[in-house]
This record gives sequence, C-alpha cells and structure tokens, in this order.
Amino acid sequence: MADILDGKLIRDQILAELAPRVAALSGAGRRPQLAVVLVGNNAASEVYVRNKIAACEKTGIESRKITPEATLSTEALLALIDSLNRDPAVSGILVQLPLPPQIDASRVLDAIDPDKDVDGFHPLNAGKLLAGAPGLRPCTPSGVMQLLLRYRIPIEGRKAVIVGRSDIVGKPMAILLLAANATVTICHSRTSNVAEECRRADILVAAIGRAEMIGEDHIKPGAVVIDVGMNRVEGRLTGDVEPAAMRRLASAYTPVPGGVGPLTIAMLLSNTVQAAEGSHR
Ligand code: GUN
Repeated sequence: MADILDGKLIRDQILAELAPRVAALSGAGRRPQLAVVLVGNNAASEVYVRNKIAACEKTGIESRKITPEATLSTEALLALIDSLNRDPAVSGILVQLPLPPQIDASRVLDAIDPDKDVDGFHPLNAGKLLAGAPGLRPCTPSGVMQLLLRYRIPIEGRKAVIVGRSDIVGKPMAILLLAANATVTICHSRTSNVAEECRRADILVAAIGRAEMIGEDHIKPGAVVIDVGMNRVEGRLTGDVEPAAMRRLASAYTPVPGGVGPLTIAMLLSNTVQAAEGSHR
C-alpha cells in the first residue's frame, strides 16, 4: 500500500510555526501584510486568490486585495506596483498570473521589489536560487521540499526526475533538489522517451499541466511520486498522474487535491513572514 503524503497536515504544521512569528511582528507594530493584485476576472485566479486571502486571515497576516479592470495598461500596473513597493506597510506583493494579453507580464514581475517578491519570480531571486544564496523561493517547489523533508524522504544521492520545465515549478524544483544532493533530470515536450526517464526516478515530480499524463509505465515500483498538476476536467480537479498508478506502484504519493496545493499557499505565507522579518536575506 502506498502512503499518502498529506499536504494539509504539513501546511497546518507550517502555519502553526508561523503564528508566533506573525504575533511577534504584530506586537512590534510590523504586522506582515500581503498585497494581492488580481487583474480582470479569470475564474480560476479568483478561486486561488480567495484561498490565499483566507489563509492569510487564519494566520494573522493582513491582506490587501487590489482588483484593477481587465483593460488596465502595463504602465498603469507598473505605477500600482511602484506604489506598493514604496508602501512600508506592505511586506509582500503577489501579482496573480495569468495577466491579460495587453500586459507585458515580465516587465511587471521584474518591477516588484525583490525583497517583497513573495512568489520568488523576480530574476534576482531566480539568480539567488541558482547561486545557492538566501532569497525568496518560488512557493510550489519550496512546498514540495518541505513535504519531502518533513516526511523524512531521503533525497541525497537519489534520482529525481521532474516532468515539466516551467519557470514557476519545473526549473526551480530541479535547482532545489540538486541543492539537496539529488541527481536530477528534467523531462519536457521534446524529451525522446519520457516514460523511460521517469522509470529511473526514485522521486518523480509531475509538473506538466496535462491531466493524468503520467501512468503505470512511468513509475518505478517503490518510487515517491509528487503530483503538482491542477487540471480541471469536467469541473473536477485532476492531477498530472493517474491516481490508480500511484496507488499501485508508488511507495508514497501526493493526492490531488490535498497534496501540493495546500503547501503552495503555506509557503506564500512563509515568504510573506520572511519578507516582513527581513530573514530571507
Ligand atoms: N497563477 C498560478 N499559479 C500562480 C502562482 O504561484 N503565483 C501567481 N502569482 N500566479 C499564479
């Protein structure tokens, strides 16, 4: 029987550890505050933002939701970011993606003060991650690391295979696993035999964004499988891995929902507290 890696359990541990730090900051008149910018009305983004704000409230972090019209220009959004950068009450800034097509997303993300970049998407933070220097880390991959560490899953010397090379998940996941001394392979759409690569994995991370693309022929018996997928199929949330294949072959795996998703939010709050403390530097 495969063990279930319970993201909600680890999230609750992380949030419980944050609570006294939030209280200490608040007591010193520096209550952490997360500013969330949600442009337009993308239905999925609205759900994600609602969950992020609810988690802030549970943890005592102040949140500010800013919802400009979908027709906003890049310049107007840059002016908003500038005002949040300058506002000393704001500890963290999150611009929910995707942005409407008329907006130059990389100019916007590059404009966020790297010390308030709680998504860890700024090129300076990406460079610090690559260099192994302290900095704010992308939330989903750092949540996966917390899950592996807290479940005491050995990483050093193990073969980790990541499917997906996005800037938000796949690439930073590879760097974090490498820093933990895994031997890392990244598979992508041009990889010649994805299943064969995956079958070498002691730790398999699926971050493709295609419902149940990873099946029995991708999983080595006894592997740990981390499913980062969040696909909506006929209204139902589905991962990138077939659940039956994980149950049959994996030694442990993350379910969808209830696996990686809750950790992404926990790490966002952790980054917000670090930004408020200045402890990420
Ligand atoms: N859209 C989907 N995932 C994310 C995320 O982690 N951060 C932001 N800002 N937008 C997203």
